[in-house]
Amino acid sequence: GNYSGPLRPQIHFSPPIDFMNDPNGCFLDADGTWHLYYQYNPTDLIAGNQHWGHATSKDLYHWENQQIAISPDNNTQQIFTGSAVVDVDNTSGFFPNQDNGVVAIYTVNTATSQTQNIAYSVDGGFTFMKFEGNPVVSLDPPSTQFRDPKVICYDDHWVMTVSYATDFVIGFFTSPDLKSWTHASNFSHHGLLGLQYECPNLVEVPVADSSDSMYLLLISINPGAPQGGSITQYLPGSFNGTHFQTVDDAARLTDFGKDNYAGQFFYGTDPSSAVFIAWASNWQYGQVVPTGPLEGWRSSMSIPRSISIANVTATGWDLLNTPYNISSLFATPLGISSNLGNSNLQVDYSSIQSGAVYFQVNVTNAGSGGMLNFTFLSSITQESVKGGFFFDGDFWLDRGRTNGFDNPFFTDKFSASNPIAASGAFTLEAVIDRTILEVFLDHGRNSATSTFFPTSPLDTLVVSAGGLGDDVVVSVVVWGLRDA
Ligand code: FRU
Repeated sequence: GNYSGPLRPQIHFSPPIDFMNDPNGCFLDADGTWHLYYQYNPTDLIAGNQHWGHATSKDLYHWENQQIAISPDNNTQQIFTGSAVVDVDNTSGFFPNQDNGVVAIYTVNTATSQTQNIAYSVDGGFTFMKFEGNPVVSLDPPSTQFRDPKVICYDDHWVMTVSYATDFVIGFFTSPDLKSWTHASNFSHHGLLGLQYECPNLVEVPVADSSDSMYLLLISINPGAPQGGSITQYLPGSFNGTHFQTVDDAARLTDFGKDNYAGQFFYGTDPSSAVFIAWASNWQYGQVVPTGPLEGWRSSMSIPRSISIANVTATGWDLLNTPYNISSLFATPLGISSNLGNSNLQVDYSSIQSGAVYFQVNVTNAGSGGMLNFTFLSSITQESVKGGFFFDGDFWLDRGRTNGFDNPFFTDKFSASNPIAASGAFTLEAVIDRTILEVFLDHGRNSATSTFFPTSPLDTLVVSAGGLGDDVVVSVVVWGLRDA
């Protein structure tokens, strides 16, 4: 793959060539290596002929491409989305002499059925053998809408969530050995339905600023997102090993942009940390974005996110979503202001080779008056991506002033409502990387992932504040990011 094209993100994972969609099989091994598999069509720039591509990383930013991990047996099959676990105790019997065996659980898609299958790896996740007893879960009569198994460990057993996509049902199955599975419960018609449920994820996440944890069920819907096309929702709740129950049955979105779909949590992280990565695109336009014809690849992942959950606003449990250890990429300080006041900070980042920049704004003593704005601009064409936050609650983004992609579904503007804390303190962070912008307000209580396609690289950042009362303090730091 050629990673030097002007549209190619430099700190986000993207496939060497051809088409990528969902993250699959995400896990952290005992040696500290992160494994990312992904829906991959190695023969075209659109979906079809799906395989599991594979990459590894020590820090979730510097990725090394690996061989394709799981391929279809023949051209009547595709290997769809799924997950992976480390079978430390050899519950499966595949790993008599090791504690680092990996089992992948995935959907085999054919013209007449979708079934759940497993494959095992004795070399730590690089090569896989398919289990002779596949499929391990199938329906009778067969269904073509039964997919995306995500497996976790709960006490003494394994738990699979899997989607009966067009029935709006998430099935929970349990197993002692990853081979024989028993249906335990159904969770149906909750939250937003869209036209299909896909990629369920059951995960235990830390409660912010405490040692507690809580279960979340993520369900991706496509099409039918409020923003159009594909989006992921989460339902906070409790899980007893067989049944999931929501705390309040409200649907909450992981993102208010349009480019955060089919996200998955990494298996094997410490209970005090939950790490999430998503496909940074949307089925409404992901197969026609201009990186295909111009550079021969399509789609990147989001940056990895650290996830926790907090219950401090009127809306109840909010997912907090921040860039995972982004400071490990800080290369060059580009700008700093300890008290911006009602003025602006302008930074020329054309010297940053990666084109990737991070900024963080810290605000204290804010009341409901005041606003922050940021603009990333091309000094050559004046194309821009911009956004801002009105302290009385509205957070917005506009990617419409870029000229490299014209598509009716490539919506220009997004907004979310975000009350600030009574203390008047909050943060705003953003990561931009050539063709993708991610913004995080209020420690990631609201966030948006947004691709954009300029005809000339963006190279200038302006952060400004206005309408601030006398006591409000706004500090800003801007960092150029190291090429990953
Ligand atoms: C979600 C999805 C999954 C499916 C995979 C196929 O984006 O449609 O439901 O397994 O993509 O590539």
